[in-house]
Parts: sequence; structure tokens; C-alpha cells
Amino acid sequence: MSALEPALLPASATVSDTGRLSIGGCDLLDLATEHGTPLFVYDEDQLRARCREAVGAFGPGGASYATKAFLCVAMARLAHEEGMKLDVSTGGEYHIARAAGVPADALILHGNNKSVDELSRAMREGVSRIIVDSFDEMDRIDELVASGLPVPTVLIRLTPGIEAHTHEFVQTGQDDSKFGFGVHTGAAQVAFDRARSSSSMDLVGLHMHIGSQIFDAGFFERAIGVLAPWFHEHQLPELSVGGGLGVPYLNGEIAPSFGDWASSVKRAVADAGIGATVQVEPGRAIVAQAGVTLYSVGTVKDIPGIRTYVSVDGGMSDNPRPVLYGAGYEAFLPRAVAADRPRAVTVVGKHCESGDLLVRDARVPADLAVGDVLCTPVTGAYGHSMGSNYNKVTRPPVVFVRDGEARLVVRRETFDDLTRLDVG
Ligand code: LLP
Repeated sequence: MSALEPALLPASATVSDTGRLSIGGCDLLDLATEHGTPLFVYDEDQLRARCREAVGAFGPGGASYATKAFLCVAMARLAHEEGMKLDVSTGGEYHIARAAGVPADALILHGNNKSVDELSRAMREGVSRIIVDSFDEMDRIDELVASGLPVPTVLIRLTPGIEAHTHEFVQTGQDDSKFGFGVHTGAAQVAFDRARSSSSMDLVGLHMHIGSQIFDAGFFERAIGVLAPWFHEHQLPELSVGGGLGVPYLNGEIAPSFGDWASSVKRAVADAGIGATVQVEPGRAIVAQAGVTLYSVGTVKDIPGIRTYVSVDGGMSDNPRPVLYGAGYEAFLPRAVAADRPRAVTVVGKHCESGDLLVRDARVPADLAVGDVLCTPVTGAYGHSMGSNYNKVTRPPVVFVRDGEARLVVRRETFDDLTRLDVG
């Protein structure tokens, strides 16, 4: 069976004469020896290039990085340095961005249940935009402004009633959604009228987010059409169409580029007669392909006539996506990246659950053996960020590689970290 398609690897990937894979000029097996496994490795140049592509396609101020996809101090700083604003959807994400030195006026505050503390810190420090998501949130903003905090600049989030074809759990634009104000239910109009006439909010536009891992720009076009009437009736300078641009995870998949996305969204905006500037907030498309995960193979259990289980030293605690969404990944051996992969196996983790799958239908080289380092590509988004320490498996470190240098940006969690919060 076919080898891994190089297009799924980070852009700086190179293969040595002996078939070993390097990223950012760093040999992956050497990284595994030096830092241990599991290990997240990110191609720093690719992270930067993706940020620049997004900013290039949507203009300065037009592209914010959705930090939920992958966030640590180094990533927040990198996205800011490359000219992106940062989307934060909780006080914790806000805190990391600020700890990285990102000014509040480069942050956009999201969330369907923002607390008084989250809102007041953001308003006090002068957050760039608040994406208002509920009437209760409007009440809180009213009270905070009455207590003396500055009037925030806001967009209100509308739910256009478009169901993007993606996993049900990551669809967000349909009528039955906890996010935003429904257009079809009438809530959108009530929220719009309240925000526009409010003296505690400076309303500059509308926001939508219809889902994640979307390949078909047609969904954005339809949703833009639903929001158009508000732009026709009122002077609204800003329209955010959210995130959601899909990425290829498997051999043979092809996703639109930032340029493709920008042209179709901008065309739809122009066709709908909307004069506002367009903003986007990609997460996955910035970080997914820049990241790979390295594991060590610990056991190979062949159940004749049934399946071969290859167990690695991580699992659902560093990548819960296969368990949550049935998400598919490729697997390969960095010692033989271009090798054929004739052997069908299931790559599983070390957690105490049968469902702890990393790659259900993996193809691997015939000689895969205990002790091999195994790599899953395109694991830069929603792996580290959704990780846990279930079974008290310690969280992996993160290294950024570039020009032959590996920079540790998040250290491995230790056993001492595991008892750090216990006070009794
Ligand atoms: N903006 C908003 C308001 C969002 O809710 C999200 C993602 C984004 C932007 C970024 O979307 P992206 O460009 O990354 O698709 N854990 C799931 C994805 C959840 C997405 C949640 N919201 C996964 O692993 O597939």
C-alpha cells in the first residue's frame, strides 16, 4: 500500500539518504531521543508562513488566530508577531495571550457564557472586540459600563441557520445551537436592535461561525446571504465570517487555500451588496499541518483473523479527536518515511479504555516493531489544546523546530505536576 503523501507533512520536511525524516532541519528520531515521547513537534517556519498567508489574504486586521486550536505562550507571541489578532474564548486563553505580551487591543473575546470576571478584565484592559453572544451577556456589559468600565466595541454573533457538512459536534451555524442569536427565531433582530440603541456597547458589525473543518465555500456564501439584509439597512463596517477552513488529514484530501477562501468569501460579500470589511478567525488551518506527534511503540498484539493492535505511549490524552469525532489520521515511521505501508494495524494509546484509538485503520511498513518511533502527521490542531492527563498520563512537551534548532516551548508534565494542585 502506498506511502504517506509528502503533502501532509510540514513544508520543511526533508528525507535523508537513509530515508529518515527531518522537519525544520531536525531529525525526528534525534528529537524523540532528546525530548522523549510522546512529543509534539511544530515547524515554526510553517506556522509563521500560514499566519502570513492568512493576513495576506484578508489584509492587516482581517485575520485573527483562533487560539483554541493550539495555545501556549510561544504560539500566542508568534501569531501576534506575524500580524494576526488573537481570538480568545475564555479567561484562560485571554490570560495566556496577555502573559505572552499580546496587548489587549489585539485580542477578540468570544464565548457563549462569558463571566463577569472575563468581561471586566477584557473591558478594563481595552480588548479590541467583544463578540456578544447572549442577552445575559448584554445585561452584564450594561452593569459593567454602569460601574465605570469603558464602553466596549462589539460585534454580535448571529446564527444564520446554515448546517455546514461537518461533524455534528463541530457544527455551529444551525438554528438549534447554543451559540449566537438565531436569525430564524427572531432573536437576532431583537439583539441587533438592543445593541444598536445601547449606550453601553459600540456596535460595529456582525459575526457568524458556521462550523469547523469545512471544505466547501458554498456554506459561507449561503450564510453571508442570510446576514446581508442587516448590512443593507444599517451602516455596519465589519463582518466576521468566523473560522472553519478545513485541512487535509489523509492521503488524497485537498483543502482550499487561504487565497481560495478569501476570494470566495469576498466575492460572496460583494455579490450580496455588503460594503463591510471581511474578517476571519482560522484556528485549524493555521496550525494543523505544521504539527506532528511522535510516539514510541510499546506493544504489538496480533489477534489472528481480527486485527493487530499497536500500542503507543500516548493516546486519547494527547489526541482525543479520533475518539470524539471518529477523526482519521495517517501514521508512518520517521525512520522510513517514504516506505510502502502494506500492513493494516490499529494504533491505540495506553489509556484504560477500549475506545482509546489514535488511528483505527493505519497502514504501516511491514517491519514495524516494538521500540519504533511512530508519527502521526497533521496533529497540530486540537490535540495539545484538547489534551488531558487522564489516567495521570503526563502531558507531552512541545518543541518548535527551525533551521536545525529545536526550541522547547512547553516542557513535559512531571509526576510532581500531577500532585501540584492537591491541597488536602
Ligand atoms: N471562531 C469560532 C467562534 C470558533 O468557535 C472556532 C472553533 C473557530 C473560530 C476556529 O475554527 P477552526 O478554524 O479551527 O475550524 N475540536 C474540534 C473543533 C472545534 C472548533 C470549535 N470552534 C476538532 O478538533 O475538530
